[in-house]
Amino acid sequence: MSAPPSRGRFITLEGIDGAGKSTHARFLAEELTRRGRRVVATREPGGTATGEAIRDWLLHRPMTHDSEALLMFAARREHLVQVIEPALARGDVVLCDRFTDATYAYQGAGHGVSLAMLDTLAEFVHGDCNPDLTLLFDVPSEVSRERLARMQARGKSLDRFERESQDFFERVRDGYLARAAAEPARFRIIDSTRPVDEVRAEIRAIADGL
Ligand code: TMP
Repeated sequence: MSAPPSRGRFITLEGIDGAGKSTHARFLAEELTRRGRRVVATREPGGTATGEAIRDWLLHRPMTHDSEALLMFAARREHLVQVIEPALARGDVVLCDRFTDATYAYQGAGHGVSLAMLDTLAEFVHGDCNPDLTLLFDVPSEVSRERLARMQARGKSLDRFERESQDFFERVRDGYLARAAAEPARFRIIDSTRPVDEVRAEIRAIADGL
């Protein structure tokens, strides 16, 4: 009888809007696949049919900040049960574009939702199923603003979060950096103001070490 597969790796990618995270997430998925790893690339809010429907509400409908946090965690629960836990049990690498750190940064630091409530929800929704590694793509809020303005000029319509003020993004960035400082072994901060080739070289080195 063959031994059960060992638990896979849970890797999350974070950063403020306009940090280039999603492009780099695709690149990391390709690099890992090239190295023979089985990769499940997914995102939050979303990743399941129900989660994607909730995402549509979150990005486009007005609501209170508390409801925003509750819906993020509802989508996360579906994602965890349907996608993340089964993939980790199969031994796959799960590359998740945002997870609970985003809720602490956006809803907590950005919108002032009670951190005690977020702690309770996080414990209820995923217990100790936390990322093994979190790549934080870091840019100052003015870089994020400029990139979003360029995307808008090229015809992209901005969602509810992308239309937030620069002050909001500054608070979100600070929220992320505070979490990274509190858990330095889990976080890797990637300076995403550098040219794409330099960031890619760093991602290749990370993929080599996984
Ligand atoms: P995305 O553009 O990276 O796909 O994320 C969609 C938006 O959702 C982004 O502006 C950040 C926001 N978000 C939160 O506010 N809280 C969360 O917990 C997550 C996962 C995303």
